[in-house]
Amino acid sequence: MLYLGVLASGRGSNFQAIVDAIGAGSLAAAVKLLIVDVPGAFAVERARKHSIEFLYLDPKESPSKDAYFARIAEEFAGRGVELVILAGFMRIVRKPLIDAFPNRIMNIHPALLPSFPGLHGQKQAAEYGVRISGCTVHFVDEGMDTGPVIIQAAVPVSPDDTDDTLSARILKQEHRIFPEAIRLYAEGRLKVEGRVVRIAGYEAGEDAVLINPPLP
Ligand code: GAR
Repeated sequence: MLYLGVLASGRGSNFQAIVDAIGAGSLAAAVKLLIVDVPGAFAVERARKHSIEFLYLDPKESPSKDAYFARIAEEFAGRGVELVILAGFMRIVRKPLIDAFPNRIMNIHPALLPSFPGLHGQKQAAEYGVRISGCTVHFVDEGMDTGPVIIQAAVPVSPDDTDDTLSARILKQEHRIFPEAIRLYAEGRLKVEGRVVRIAGYEAGEDAVLINPPLP
């Protein structure tokens, strides 16, 4: 059983997808603590509903950004968290948390990295006029959306897409690949070599076009 700590800033639909995968028995994990950095983040309602412990930590109450992330690391470590999940967490993670959980922090980003990092990946893609976009689960390093890629899923983009229509299409795939990446981690199948992640038992093939690696 893998112990998860989740960070979220808003709606929390990815958090919900992870909780649902655990509930369905497809992910052998437990969320030990949800931390939000925004008061009233809807993710908290989801935690409450599932009797998951949660905390609101106000970044303004910490003397520095590093101190804020040191506090987060302390809260997670104190509950035996093994893997930290950024589920719509809208801050750049600082060194104290990364050092406490090296290659043990995962983020979901709503674009095919390294394209369109930062905020509003879906809007950036729609406005750029790309034909394909998607989402990426990656390990977190000190850069902005730069860590080793674990799984990506692609979706088609139409010139008629708006930020909203493209976001909805991408979100469906986010909800598939995020629990899957955590499952691969829980099964001990992810190995980071430099910036490349190897997945034990997976070899790239022709069927890996839309989701890479293909889901079982
Ligand atoms: C998701 O689309 C996620 O990929 C994105 O925020 C949304 C959160 O939705 N994350 C980022 O942009 C991180 N830079 P959710 O709160 O419903 O999971």
